[in-house]
Amino acid sequence: MPQDSLSPATLTAVRDTAASLFWSRYRDDAAPAPQVWNEVIATLLDHRSIRSFLPTPLPAGTLDLLVAAAQSAASSSNLQVWSVVAVEDKARRTRLSKLAGSQKHIVDAPLFLVWLADLARLADIATAEGAEIEGIHYLELLLVGIVDAALAAQNAVVALESLGLGSVYIGAIRNNLEAVAGELALPPLVMPVFGLCIGHPDPAVATGIKPRLPQEVVLHHETYAPGRKLDALARYNAALSSFQREHNLAVEEWTSKVTERVRTPESLAGRHRLGQALRNLGFQLR
Ligand SMILES: Cc1cc2nc3c(=O)[nH]c(=O)nc-3n(C[C@H](O)[C@H](O)[C@H](O)COP(=O)(O)O)c2cc1C
Repeated sequence: MPQDSLSPATLTAVRDTAASLFWSRYRDDAAPAPQVWNEVIATLLDHRSIRSFLPTPLPAGTLDLLVAAAQSAASSSNLQVWSVVAVEDKARRTRLSKLAGSQKHIVDAPLFLVWLADLARLADIATAEGAEIEGIHYLELLLVGIVDAALAAQNAVVALESLGLGSVYIGAIRNNLEAVAGELALPPLVMPVFGLCIGHPDPAVATGIKPRLPQEVVLHHETYAPGRKLDALARYNAALSSFQREHNLAVEEWTSKVTERVRTPESLAGRHRLGQALRNLGFQLR
């Protein structure tokens, strides 16, 4: 930890914070210890989704700042194939909430951002140039838009968390993709990828750092190492269960949860028809 300008007491505090965030992120004695540290890394490791918000409006200029942070993300070939709709109107947020599993936080958070893979802009520009737009119909460009939107959104999340605000992604807007597109008056070739509730976290509701899989499960060196890593998965089931118990959440083994999610098309909560929904929004998915 090269923190030359810090006093010994501050340095100890920083080391304690680093070790504590690492422990919370893994709850695993086998987890690596942090070797370098700074405030950006502390913000990243301290991430937690927020689902209880105060009604307090966001500070002036927050939206502009978050969009600037989002636009600072890398973009495939700088095509910038994403857009975002900022929904502040409570009636519209309420309607969107109903389309996304009636999630209360969409109504409560003062700002709901819907991140879009926006191929309509590319199509418009090319058409205005008098060009064909055959390439737009290939899966590759939709993937570029989805990746761009995700990178942009996550930059906004890091920025808002660094400001003490909180957020939660809402993938459930894909349960009813066409209806969400209708609510936002999206033209064809624009896909709502996910939403993001943003607001001031309610301090009365405790939150915590949800542990992640041991690194040995997700990190491969040089080539992919197959195998189920049963011991690490068992440690993760235990770590997540202890988090769930501490936060009075239903205790469910992670391996059972992922098994349930892949069991049947219906396990995807309506999203098994995503391919058809995208075709209905004008994507040909060639
Ligand atoms: C793309 C995406 C979609 C998500 N959709 C929802 C959602 O619809 N509702 C919700 O409550 N949380 C949603 N989440 C939040 C995840 O449940 C959460 O990130 C995960 O449980 C890990 O918890 P943490 O963010 O607190 O670390 C989503 C997260 C991502 C990345």
